[in-house]
Amino acid sequence: MAYSHLERANDLEPSDGHRVLREKCPLHREENFDPPFYVVSRHDDVLKILKSPELWGNSDGPGVFYQKGGVLGSADDPDHARQRKVLREVFLPSKMRSIENRLKMIRNDLWKVFEKPGSGDFVDLFAFPFPAFAIAEILGVDPKDREKFHKWADDIVAGLGGGDLELVDKANLELWSYIDELVEERLLLMETGNQLPDDAISTMTIAFSNGQLSRREIQQLGHQLLVAGHETTASLLALMIYRLSAQPELLTELKNDHNLIEPAIEEFLRFDSPVQGLFRTNSSSCPVLDSVIPAGTKLQAMFASANRDPEIWDDPDSIRFDRDPRLSRQHLAFGWGVHYCIGAPLARLEAHLALEKIVESFTTIEILEEPPTTPPFILRGFTKLNIRWT
Ligand code: HEM
Repeated sequence: MAYSHLERANDLEPSDGHRVLREKCPLHREENFDPPFYVVSRHDDVLKILKSPELWGNSDGPGVFYQKGGVLGSADDPDHARQRKVLREVFLPSKMRSIENRLKMIRNDLWKVFEKPGSGDFVDLFAFPFPAFAIAEILGVDPKDREKFHKWADDIVAGLGGGDLELVDKANLELWSYIDELVEERLLLMETGNQLPDDAISTMTIAFSNGQLSRREIQQLGHQLLVAGHETTASLLALMIYRLSAQPELLTELKNDHNLIEPAIEEFLRFDSPVQGLFRTNSSSCPVLDSVIPAGTKLQAMFASANRDPEIWDDPDSIRFDRDPRLSRQHLAFGWGVHYCIGAPLARLEAHLALEKIVESFTTIEILEEPPTTPPFILRGFTKLNIRWT
């Protein structure tokens, strides 16, 4: 089939391409890449892949390139399970409650610019810094180092889309050594019998002292939390603004009933999934639909397409806040199964805090120019979103 998934992925509405895939070619072989990879796009088929982590693994990396030696999202069990067990604690509901007030303060600070009518780039003013600061808070970054951390996050994320690789290397090295310093500080506190701060670096340092994690893994996990949680959440926030501007009746609905904020976030995640699809690699040759795929092949499970599959969702191409609550959380925007997004509680909290302010402060939102989309074909979002708000 002469269809380029790679070319269509950066359309302003990638779901148009996904519909073609679901209807015409549910197992697509993407020839415009070396080596070619496969794409599954129907909800059922995506789930089947995610339900077989022993066959379809992550240890070659969840991206299109083969990358060995990663952690958590780039690892299989038993390493993945061991690392996840440590980090699970960081995202417990009680931890989210304890961080909520600090995140509100960060949000309120960033939001000051929106309190009076004005115009500007929503990505730069809010969508990018807020998640970076939130992850800094979770990890245990000192507020005085927040801006430095934000800069590393920006440089690393820019590299995902082919930005300045020298800057990426520099940011990676600085971030790793910064994480190492935080671990060192906590080890010293432990040695001297002092209490550790309540943050992810402390959790991981305790795991290191119990032999559950290595120091290298702590650096890699800290790095992964930043990479996995920064641009994804920024995209969700910017996409919400984009849709509320295009469909102002949705903003009115939310203004009239604040209880719709929760279902609205799930619906935005379903409708505009920031992670369009991630990759798996098969450990042995296996059948998928009508083909046999040789071992070691990359396959992209398209979460975004599954989330618009009419077999699952009524009226999938409309944004509706009145979906059956039993179904509304069943989207695959956070994946499914053993690799289900560990940061989902934080992402939901950040989205809630943002949407609360959007609904409270904005009467109108106008998009001033067509926004440029995020370059890598795996993510969906905007690198810039110039808006005027009243
Ligand atoms: C709207 C925001 C977000 C979206 C859409 C999103 C999406 C996803 C998806 C689809 C996966 C599954 C990966 C797979 O199946 O291979 C995932 C995994 C992951 N996410 Fe998120 N994510 C978001 C926010 C966050 C945040 C805020 C963090 C942490 C600060 C985070 C950390 C991770 C990590 C570490 C994994 C790997 C988990 C594992 O493999 O066990 N994510 N995310």
